[in-house]
Amino acid sequence: MSIELIKKAEKNHVLNREEIISLLKDDSIDAALFRAANKVRGKYMGEEVHLRGIIEFSNICKRDCLYCGLRKSNENLERYRIMPEEILDLAKKAAEYGYKSIVLQSGEDSYYTVDILQNIIREIKKLNVAVTLSLGEKTFEEYKAYKEAGADRYLIRIETTDKSLYESLDPGMSQDERMRCLKDLSSLGYEVGTGNLVGLPGQSLESIADDILFFKEIDADMIGLGPFIPNEDTPLKDVKVENFQMSLKVMALVRLLLPDANIPATTAMESLNKNGRMIALSSGANVVMPNITEGEYRRMYAIYPGKICINDTPNQCWNCINGKIASIGRTVSKELGSREKIFAL
Ligand code: 5AD
Ligand code: FES
Repeated sequence: MSIELIKKAEKNHVLNREEIISLLKDDSIDAALFRAANKVRGKYMGEEVHLRGIIEFSNICKRDCLYCGLRKSNENLERYRIMPEEILDLAKKAAEYGYKSIVLQSGEDSYYTVDILQNIIREIKKLNVAVTLSLGEKTFEEYKAYKEAGADRYLIRIETTDKSLYESLDPGMSQDERMRCLKDLSSLGYEVGTGNLVGLPGQSLESIADDILFFKEIDADMIGLGPFIPNEDTPLKDVKVENFQMSLKVMALVRLLLPDANIPATTAMESLNKNGRMIALSSGANVVMPNITEGEYRRMYAIYPGKICINDTPNQCWNCINGKIASIGRTVSKELGSREKIFAL
């Protein structure tokens, strides 16, 4: 039964809610699911892996998400802001290594005004790379201003489609507002990335199925998802979880349903399994987002514990990831890796 469902999804890229739930529940079919997702990835995205260099430029955040180490109530975290010149410097070095895409990520930090961000974006665009922003919830006008400065893509995870769970884990935030952000970004012509956390306390498999269907419904260009990893310095520190396999399954299902979306093998996956990103690349993913931040900042961007590469340099990560990708018989793309819609929904 499950194997039939996987075959169907591999061919038609459609599954209904009950079918997704039954596949999430059945752990006897995991290997077949990962193989099918890998095949679909090969058919639509080819053997190239896109690298996006990520600059974590500020760990200051005005929000208080219960799961996140950057939450404002976390007083154990030493905070930092990287100044624009230094951000540009990191981006330049990354472009020299060969990155074709730069991601600017931070907590929700109002220090970086529209003017400051526009300048950074304009300067980075001169390097002929794609620019992706991951700065959280902003107004339509702000998103518009970043776009006008040249930003190409925006990442904002929905985290969970379960409205009451979302609003209880993200105090003071509203899911409607999150949806408004996604809608605005899309109407402004961004390539839009979203995603979820897998294994949040109180999250049901039913709601994970809804997350997957939501990504398909909005035809997300990028879907980044990963396991929830409890952080000692947050209220969710005592949650006991083992989410690696489940997040891999969710990712594989996302690939089956969105065959031509860009899907990263996320850092959180590798933090739970030392070969996590390569396993993900062989189970549907086609993107990796190596950290190109330098020095102490890497350790200080402590969203969750056990984050990989905190003692490495951007150069080490570049060499490491290129080697790993070659070792699984894939190649690193020299293109921007924009989303190309091949499969009509
Ligand atoms: N474990 C794993 N991922 C997390 N994120 C936040 N907190 C955690 C955690 N404890 C993810 C969220 C956010 C992204 C930047 O990091 O999904 O969108
Ligand atoms: Fe950073 Fe491997 S990717 S050391």
